[in-house]
Amino acid sequence: MDTKKLRSQDWFGRKDKLGFIHRSWMKAEGFSDSVFQNKPVVGICNSWSELTNCNAHLRQVADAVKRGVWAAGGFPLEFPTISLGEPFMRPSTMMFRNLMAMDVEESIRANPMDGVVLLCGCDKTTPAQLMGAASAGLPSIMVTGGPMLRGMWHDKPLGSGTDVWHFWDERRAGRISEEEWCELESCMSRSAGHCMVMGTASTMTSLAEAMGMTLTGCASIPAVDSRRYEMAERSGARMVEMIREDLTPDKLITRKSIENAIRVNMAIGGSTNAIIHLKAVAQRLGIDLPLALYDDISKTTPVIANIRPSGKYLMEDLYYAGGVPAVMKQIESLLHLDVITATGKTMGENIASAQCHNADVIRPLDNPLQQEGGTLILYGNLAPDGAVIKTSAADAKLMQHTGRAVVFEDHGDFLSRYDDPDLDIDETCVMVLKNAGPVGGPGMPEYGNLPIPAKLLKKGVTDMVRISDARMSGTSYGTVVLHISPEAAIGGSLAAVENGDEIRLDVANRTIDLLIDAHEMNRRLRLFKSRRPHYDRGYGRLYIENVLQADRGCDFGFLVKPEKKEDDGDYAEGTRATDELPLPF
Ligand code: FES
Repeated sequence: MDTKKLRSQDWFGRKDKLGFIHRSWMKAEGFSDSVFQNKPVVGICNSWSELTNCNAHLRQVADAVKRGVWAAGGFPLEFPTISLGEPFMRPSTMMFRNLMAMDVEESIRANPMDGVVLLCGCDKTTPAQLMGAASAGLPSIMVTGGPMLRGMWHDKPLGSGTDVWHFWDERRAGRISEEEWCELESCMSRSAGHCMVMGTASTMTSLAEAMGMTLTGCASIPAVDSRRYEMAERSGARMVEMIREDLTPDKLITRKSIENAIRVNMAIGGSTNAIIHLKAVAQRLGIDLPLALYDDISKTTPVIANIRPSGKYLMEDLYYAGGVPAVMKQIESLLHLDVITATGKTMGENIASAQCHNADVIRPLDNPLQQEGGTLILYGNLAPDGAVIKTSAADAKLMQHTGRAVVFEDHGDFLSRYDDPDLDIDETCVMVLKNAGPVGGPGMPEYGNLPIPAKLLKKGVTDMVRISDARMSGTSYGTVVLHISPEAAIGGSLAAVENGDEIRLDVANRTIDLLIDAHEMNRRLRLFKSRRPHYDRGYGRLYIENVLQADRGCDFGFLVKPEKKEDDGDYAEGTRATDELPLPF
């Protein structure tokens, strides 16, 4: 019997009319009185959806979590939230990440639960759940859905996304046939799970583990591996203990644990999207995370995970090689090992016995894929508040490059002209896409890895400098400067770029500049006229009016945690007793 008063007892432990209502209506689901006897209520926050193929197996994962909760003496209650299916949602899942985070937060806060198990997988579902759970403030543990098995085409392994871009370029260059292209379609995604390259999904699930929000070794177990379900069962059981320990997200997600996550992001050659999502998660807890920190950590962290798109292998290989614990073990001298994690132990204890079983998949520090981290921050007159480049997936020869700008005013303009044989462009040019940021996109779509024009592909060109205020898929590669802040749509200096201008990228000095003087820049920006907003009602309007720029995590300003007050009390905002609840009739 627990002696601590549980939050859920404000619903189920009452002797009054409200208590009658709460228990009686729950009995409609066939539960007996035993579940109301001060058992920790574990919410299972499920982003399952058949429109989110990466998360379509999460009902089975939830069943495994429930086994663990029941066995540990808890009372599991599964609930849905909106889900964000990367391949389908328009204009972009990023536009709805904050909506899902609000759904997660309010579903937790409004309901009778003492802790929550978060089930996620596809790109935005992981950060949305982390953001929502961080704001809700109840004990939380994440169970990620796991990556798909590697794709296979004949005897060739295929990586989600990465090989789509690769083979699409091959198709446009006429090097593979229509028949082969169709065959590839059926060979890529051959099991449940999320994309199995080190894209945004694998990155964010790895970083959730790195910041201590999962049990050890959770991220890389393939979705269909029986050990995924064993992990889910143990996580359910562990949540019951976490409730008793009051192990809330603010104790796990700290400046130190986020620094660990950034380190791991660099070491795995993780997605550029992680920069935005980590910033958003940190801000939910009032943690300052300047962009410059990424660059400082990048300079001292080698890329050691040989996973596509930076490397050769896939997530299944990473799992067999030892997974995230083995990566962290290799770089443990660079980590904060004293941070507490969801296991109840420190990160140092969690990874103490981790081993690498394949030194080509997880390289030793003296034989890294790249000496410095994969993701760098650039500044300059084109990006006063910062921009991002993923050098581990870029052509080293283009790290210092000056070229003539070929400007596309928006994505529609790009699509209508990029393959035009008369387009005035060669491989030395810099392709510029405007109006693809948080407001301009809208929703900062993953347009940033602009396809190389077919006429250049046919010449054998494989990479060019491309810049935009968009994001790019974590599965993508190329010399691509992204997240330019502030964006063109709100009058950032990207809006001032004209065809024929010279643009200089200097990665060694971390700069991206438009080679015009300040007087000319100011003259052009004074002429800037904003476009008509994409929405004048509904969520779209809420989004456009409140979204922060990429350097501030694209969260809504009103969701960022204000300065901590002295008398915040024992409960997160709005999680107190239910005395004032309206009756359901
Ligand atoms: Fe869901 Fe790639 S589409 S992770």
